[in-house]
Amino acid sequence: MKALNPQLNTWDDSALLQFFMSENMRRPENINFGIGEMDFPTPQIIVDACKGALDSGITFYMPTAGAPELRLALAEACSREYGLEFTENEIFVTPGGTNALFVVILALAGDGGEVLYPNPGFPAYLPQIALGNGTPVDYPLSEENGFIPEPDDIRNRITNRTKLLILNSPSNPIGNIIPSETLEDLAAIAIDNDIWVISDEAYRHLVYAPDRHSSIISLPGMRERTFLTCSFSKSYSMTGWRIGYIVAPSTFNEAFFKIFQYTVTCVSSFSQIAAAKAVQLGDSYYRETLLQMTSRKELIERGLSEITTVSFPKPQGAFYVFLNIQRTGLSSAEVSKKLLDDYSLVTIPGSAFGDLGEGYLRLSYASDLDKIEEGLERLKDAMQHLIPQ
Ligand SMILES: Cc1ncc(COP(=O)(O)O)c(C=O)c1O
Repeated sequence: MKALNPQLNTWDDSALLQFFMSENMRRPENINFGIGEMDFPTPQIIVDACKGALDSGITFYMPTAGAPELRLALAEACSREYGLEFTENEIFVTPGGTNALFVVILALAGDGGEVLYPNPGFPAYLPQIALGNGTPVDYPLSEENGFIPEPDDIRNRITNRTKLLILNSPSNPIGNIIPSETLEDLAAIAIDNDIWVISDEAYRHLVYAPDRHSSIISLPGMRERTFLTCSFSKSYSMTGWRIGYIVAPSTFNEAFFKIFQYTVTCVSSFSQIAAAKAVQLGDSYYRETLLQMTSRKELIERGLSEITTVSFPKPQGAFYVFLNIQRTGLSSAEVSKKLLDDYSLVTIPGSAFGDLGEGYLRLSYASDLDKIEEGLERLKDAMQHLIPQ
């Protein structure tokens, strides 16, 4: 038999797959600190807009770049949020933020170009670069630097083949944000070295006061080289709807169109009508969500600080805490497995986010306060047993 695409061997997620497939993952008594999605339902008004679209026969292909009313609504929302003037021609609707990333990587670096990506970081980056025929080059995020990209680490990795730098803020798995001074340094590097930037902002509506979301696209000289990849998944509890978008200079539309037309054709028509309704909900929707998420964040922060044998960077965005469990002396996969098997607590081993995630666990606090409380109790108990006092 002929060999499979060798790029599929660029990464190994067999250990993680095994973990997720384990029988114990399905126990009803589990508390799930692993999940990467909100527990809130999609707002009814969005569901109703979808039903209305189905009932009125919006069940056919849409324009490749997206439904005109959705692109327009997103251009207006992004103009407001980023303090820039966007038109609908700068918006490209995709089936989720994950696909948005892939389309940009393929279009810009599919010629073997080097793509810098964070380690630890969102697990899709490396496989997407490899599958998209780019050359993956990771840059470290370390606890000593608060898991913020160190401009010198980026500068030192740039060669004449570097095409793209991927930034992610708010971050998965760390839950921090990149401060604006660092964004300024990174923008200067991108401009000096003529490289493009993907700013993965899937969690931009989940930033906790007093911190604020800031984006590299708003800095001078960056709009023409920045590709925002965005998602409805986390902002509106719409993970299953598969809808996201790219914000990019309209000169790139033809390139995206070429890839998209022959791989996806268009995003589900009724998801797009529902998404347009979501955008109309305006900022008050995020404010309400943030209010609830803030109490969850404060609860987990308080609970974890009582476990003196672990540490974590201050959660500022998204809904994750990246917990240092190095004092257990075990690998993150071993600790996750013990927590699951012996304490019915689901967590994600940091090694799933890159080798530099070893020694950490990602905890998600996108669940209700009672569950967070119970999960914290189990974690405290576990750490008392796993870490010699
Ligand atoms: C950092 C980051 N970017 C992008 C995405 C993409 O989300 P989706 O494909 O559901 O829009 C996720 C999802 O977990 C993420 O964590």
